[in-house]
Amino acid sequence: MPVNYITIAIIMKFFRLSIYAVLFTALYFPFKSNAQGEKFLTVKINESKATVQPTMWGVFFEDINLGADGGIYAELVKNRSFEFSRPLMGWKVQQKLAKEGSVLVINRKEENASNPRFIRVVADHASRGDLGLTNEGFRGMGIKKELKYDFSVMYRQQSAGVKMHVELTDSAGKIIGAASLSPNEAGAGWHKASVSFIASATVLKAKMNVWIEGNGVIDLDMISLFPTDTWKNRPGGMRADMIQLLADMKPGFIRFPGGCIVEGFDLSTRYQWKKTIGPVEQRQLIINRWNTEFAHRPAPDYFQTFGLGFFEYFQLAEDIGAEPLPILNCGMACQFNTAEVVPLNELDPYIRDALDLIEFANGDVSTTWGKVRADLGHPLPFQLKMMGVGNENWGPQYVERLTAFTKAIKAKYPGFKIVNSSGTDPEGGRFDYLDGELRKMNADIIDEHYYRKPEWFFANARRYDNYPRTGSKIFGGEYAAQSDKTVSVNNKNNWLTALSEAAFMTGLERNADVVVMASYAPLFAHIDGWQWTPDLIWVNNLQSYGTPDYYVQKLYALNKGTKVVPITLNNDVVAGQDSLYASAVTDAAANELIIKIVNASARPQPTVINVQGAKKLASKGLATLLQSDDLNRVNSFDDPQKLSPKESAIVVKGNKINYTAAPYSFSVIKVQQL
Ligand code: AHR
Repeated sequence: MPVNYITIAIIMKFFRLSIYAVLFTALYFPFKSNAQGEKFLTVKINESKATVQPTMWGVFFEDINLGADGGIYAELVKNRSFEFSRPLMGWKVQQKLAKEGSVLVINRKEENASNPRFIRVVADHASRGDLGLTNEGFRGMGIKKELKYDFSVMYRQQSAGVKMHVELTDSAGKIIGAASLSPNEAGAGWHKASVSFIASATVLKAKMNVWIEGNGVIDLDMISLFPTDTWKNRPGGMRADMIQLLADMKPGFIRFPGGCIVEGFDLSTRYQWKKTIGPVEQRQLIINRWNTEFAHRPAPDYFQTFGLGFFEYFQLAEDIGAEPLPILNCGMACQFNTAEVVPLNELDPYIRDALDLIEFANGDVSTTWGKVRADLGHPLPFQLKMMGVGNENWGPQYVERLTAFTKAIKAKYPGFKIVNSSGTDPEGGRFDYLDGELRKMNADIIDEHYYRKPEWFFANARRYDNYPRTGSKIFGGEYAAQSDKTVSVNNKNNWLTALSEAAFMTGLERNADVVVMASYAPLFAHIDGWQWTPDLIWVNNLQSYGTPDYYVQKLYALNKGTKVVPITLNNDVVAGQDSLYASAVTDAAANELIIKIVNASARPQPTVINVQGAKKLASKGLATLLQSDDLNRVNSFDDPQKLSPKESAIVVKGNKINYTAAPYSFSVIKVQQL
């Protein structure tokens, strides 16, 4: 009988020993192998175990850690319409000759409830540098040499006669780009003025001055600055480097916009998609719940302008070839915060939002919401197939509300899939209750979240081997190994966390008949504005890099295959014996066998992989390796690819692949069938 390493590991964990105990155990109880220490693995290439869904490996975007404003939404001006709780947050009024009332914040709530505030500037023979406003950006503005920038402003002239001069400055105050514009539309209404200019230097944390010159009174709103190198060069678009990292993964789906963002601190701050579409100046800003969530990481300037709204999310999904997975509020606010619920007799507007969203995404242009989509520039449907109802909601209140949503959605759209919450944790009373209730309801897809230590990920590689094979499917909607503990500021995206996720994911892949989707969480973090670690991709104002966890996700997504085939060691799945983990798929289009192997031990592990059932294998294959002897290794802005995949050729002899899994490594082996 082979030693049961998982049991030993769990016992040692019980005694509060670390992952090193798991590795130590494996080292001192080597699994059965030959004199050379080779392990004999068997792949049965024609015995398909499951179909891998095209959605299998996706991404989860939430506006946390400056994910949207200050992140992928490329707007450089913070608080562009003066709607933050403090209207001049992010701005500094520049007024050389102190005159009361020269810059006034005016609130016209009765006239414009979604964008009530603007600035009135009274200029009295002002010269450049006398009177104006400076914006600090989101932890500064990232400016690139020789790139064109688009400045725009909405204005209303009370009395004509002023000019505007825009400048970008570096930290020493040196001007690195400037332009002037003359508002020339008179009359009572609002107009938009814009001007573009080229920056003369690259600066990580620039500022922007807007000087008012001359004589007159002018109202200003929506003061905006965008780089022109946005994703697909869309004006007012998204940061291309960040989106490129997503596109490079070829994710099967994108879940958005949260996360707890969907729930809100209370119901008034829940995410409401209808308020996030249409002209940006009409999208009503709200506080971002991560603004106040963590006393240890306060972010008083964190708001949601919704410049990135549901239309843009659908467009993004389409751009990167991912199925959209919107998550909607189910009538419950965050249960860690206020736990407010809407009474069942007032749930209808929430359900209406869900039904209207399906029509917005898929409806013919003759429908009310299909027409809205068409008017926004997308007459063709977005082909929405699924939607999440609730994020991490739990308890009977959730079941009651979910039941009402499900009934209404299925009545109108019978084939539409609903993603259902199983709460915050992958085990325990709340989880068991919801899992039971959801299975009784024959829920389409159950969303499980795991924020756990690396030990948990290693030990749970078999989690789904014994899940029911019929009924509800599983979505691993949010997971990330915590090098320290959940919400600790000390969590690192190190190689140990990534390796443990890679090991766990062999279990997801092996059980692709049950697990139909999975995504790491959270996706992005700004180095100067994060609230939560670990995160898949780190950014500053100019750069972005993938963590080791990112490369694990990417390797799975790029090598997802189409059918799962068995890979075994002594007739057992490879799930931790001697610290080895493995799964295998075939890819119909490329006619390839793809094997994933994790070696979580400190020594090389030679394997002989016997591929049974193959007509003929190519004599050469490709191995892509992520490896480091240092489990604490991380990537950084200085060395963004320190831990990144390396490719090498491998030799195949007949139906045998000899492959040595390097210490602490994740390998993807590809061999073509001829
Ligand atoms: O990913 C960060 C948060 O973790 C998500 O908002 C929430 O769903 C989970 O608790």
